Amino acid sequence: MSKRGSVLSKFQSFDAYAKTLDDFRVKTYYGAALTIISAILICLLLWSEFSDYRTPEIKPQLVVDKSRKQRLEININITFPHVPCYLLSVDVMDIAGETQNDLAHDIYKTRLDPDGNQIHVEKAQDHTKEIHKILNDTTQGIDEPFCGSCYGGEAPESGCCNTCDEVSEAYIKKGWSFNDPDSINQCVKEGWKEKVLVQSKEGCNVAGSVRVNKVAGNFHLAPGKSFQQNNIHVHDLQPFLSDSVNHDFTHEIHHLSFGPKVQGVVNPLDGIGRTVSQGHYMFQYFVKVVSTQFHFLNQTTIYTNQYSVTQYERDLTGKDTSGHVHSHQGGLPGVFFNYDISPMLIINREERKSFTHFLTGVCAIIGGIFTVAGILDGFIYNAEKTFKKKKFI
Ligand SMILES: *[C@@H]1O[C@H](CO)[C@@H](O)[C@H](O)[C@H]1NC(C)=O
Repeated sequence: MSKRGSVLSKFQSFDAYAKTLDDFRVKTYYGAALTIISAILICLLLWSEFSDYRTPEIKPQLVVDKSRKQRLEININITFPHVPCYLLSVDVMDIAGETQNDLAHDIYKTRLDPDGNQIHVEKAQDHTKEIHKILNDTTQGIDEPFCGSCYGGEAPESGCCNTCDEVSEAYIKKGWSFNDPDSINQCVKEGWKEKVLVQSKEGCNVAGSVRVNKVAGNFHLAPGKSFQQNNIHVHDLQPFLSDSVNHDFTHEIHHLSFGPKVQGVVNPLDGIGRTVSQGHYMFQYFVKVVSTQFHFLNQTTIYTNQYSVTQYERDLTGKDTSGHVHSHQGGLPGVFFNYDISPMLIINREERKSFTHFLTGVCAIIGGIFTVAGILDGFIYNAEKTFKKKKFI
């Protein structure tokens, strides 16, 4: 034998997989069955391991939110079946002192007939423009500009109150309640009373989005025009309470979210509805907003928010058990959303699983199944041998 041959044979002694001679191998039918079963099992497990490897996982991470000067976008879609749109005002207030009264931008009020069908879409407060148009039509032909009286209310910059709406605004600015439109010329001319009568049985859908400061605040949907009086936020409740039709703040929240929509984020108020049969009722939702970022594998990042909510409601008429109304407790009827910003930020990062991990899994499956099958096979072989021996004795 050459020197090379002896080196090779020395190397061979490292073989951990020493083979038995083929002549000593016995092939059995159960061995074959075990082999097939193992093969099928391996295929199944490999498939599940592969699909697990292909699906990215989302890893959440909790950090302190260090962003500054951000705005918060509130998306809302809520229906009031028993409050007509002209009575409803949407206001936002925050602890930074910013108020947005009777929001007109990007919030749409849709009139609903008593059966809940849409009447027509109008941008909040757009009806003032409509009225201006009507008025311009009626004043056509008159050369000198018309200047209506404000009936003692706080006149707008132009000094004139040409529409019923402007008179009502002037009244409200002055802190007066606008409760007798019949005595006001502009309102009679516009058929205000008839309009109100037609609309008073209607409902209202409020939908759209508001951008607010990212500090704790409150937005509410309450009856009557709102205004600031001595730095206090006041609503003119008179039209709501004195109406011959009973209004109430039964509502259904179709959607309430903060920031862009992301699949998998559940908004706990979506589809929530509350029913009440009397007007003097206050619904409050205390919302905790948690900033959430999503970093996806395709390099897109979405900044949004999740929230949790607690619900509270209060009967504002102090009714005793006999049903008599005692007195009006403090508080405004309506639906209030008090939001608060959490200092924590959740970062959800989408990640692909590591390939080496997948490889390890594959080896574990193949090796494991073969080993277990081998043990089983040996067990059956030995059992059969003892059984046969016993039979012969
Ligand atoms: C508000 O929700 C209702 C009911 O789900 C839906 O029909 C309507 O289109 C929504 N409005 C907006 C502006 O998304």
